[in-house]
Amino acid sequence: MTKKILVLPGDGIGPEIVAEASKLLNALRQDHGLNVELEEAPVGGAGYDAAGKPLPDETLHLAKEADAILLGAVGGPRYDTLDWELRPERGLLGLRSELALFANLRPAILYPQLASASALKPEIVGGLDIMILRELTGGAYFGKPRGIHTRDDGTREGFNTIRYDEYEIERIARSGFEIAMKRGKRLCSVDKANVLEVSQLWREVVEQVARDFPRVELSHMYVDNAAMQLVRAPKQFDVIVTENMFGDILSDAAAMLTGSIGMLPSASLDAAGKGMYEPIHGSAPDIAGQGVANPLATILSVSMMLRYTLNEPTLADLVDAAVSKVLDQGLRTPDIWTEGCQKVGTAQMGDAVVKA
Ligand code: NAI
Ligand code: MG
Repeated sequence: MTKKILVLPGDGIGPEIVAEASKLLNALRQDHGLNVELEEAPVGGAGYDAAGKPLPDETLHLAKEADAILLGAVGGPRYDTLDWELRPERGLLGLRSELALFANLRPAILYPQLASASALKPEIVGGLDIMILRELTGGAYFGKPRGIHTRDDGTREGFNTIRYDEYEIERIARSGFEIAMKRGKRLCSVDKANVLEVSQLWREVVEQVARDFPRVELSHMYVDNAAMQLVRAPKQFDVIVTENMFGDILSDAAAMLTGSIGMLPSASLDAAGKGMYEPIHGSAPDIAGQGVANPLATILSVSMMLRYTLNEPTLADLVDAAVSKVLDQGLRTPDIWTEGCQKVGTAQMGDAVVKA
């Protein structure tokens, strides 16, 4: 059956990088039998320009119909003065909540060819390939009660609630084990069970789910130790699964281990494996329209789409290998360029990947 992919270029460099990813998808369709059809719609600032809101009704409708969504990036200085409800970022949050995308996958990969981009020593970080799975719709960012309370004597307190339902822990844990099965079969669940009851429940439920995945080696780690270990010896990890706030912090830290924001993809999945795929970077208004943006994070997002939604692991491996090959060939967009390499633009890089 033909799978539907909704392409949302967005703003800034979004259309430039998404054009290269679409090029790749079309090549896979023509030469490798990938059975997909692409449709494009506006979101973010482009949605505001086209339909007066960042998530136009028609775009949301198409997103609900689609099997997978490929997003560029949203936002830009032109939209900074709009009311919150009209801002480009609302378009993204709207998609995440409307589609119930609770599992956020953030790989941190350091290509050996780019080891000098990292702030860490090559022997610590060279060849890094880990996956952080962050729960995206629960925890402190959504828990109630929340607020700032003024007491009778005029002093104030602020409070939030870290709340997780058993079923929320179960489904993210299950995703974690499933992803681990597709990778190195090791899962580290990160919590703060020495202090937080919500973490004790988290740990209990993760242990229960583990019984369904006897081939995955499960470990637990406290979040403070995990932060330390990510910087000290990041290659010890395969897949990390954790709650919303811990994952927010750890995934940003892990991404920066590699030093190249233009190289990192992400996925946000629902319970059925439908997903939205996007680079972790933003719309880069400082370089938009110049044809120099690095399309590899978006191209690697296509690889994730092939692996996690379209069930085409062989094609995903092919794309990963093609990216590695163009790096071997010495091709570099300006953000990852170093002495002795060949500087190329967005389209040249995309063409090279398709050829590889
Ligand atoms: P940014 O990620 O857009 O840019 C940060 C720096 O990295 C800039 O110097 C940029 O030129 C560079 N960069 C980013 N992607 C690159 C690529 N593919 N190739 C080469 N260089 C790249 O973050 P910033 O500047 O904080 O935000 C710019 C806009 O993007 C804002 O409106 C922000 O709200 C939005 N944004 C959107 C996100 C999304 O759509 N998911 C995520 C983060 C920011
Ligand atoms: Mg963050």
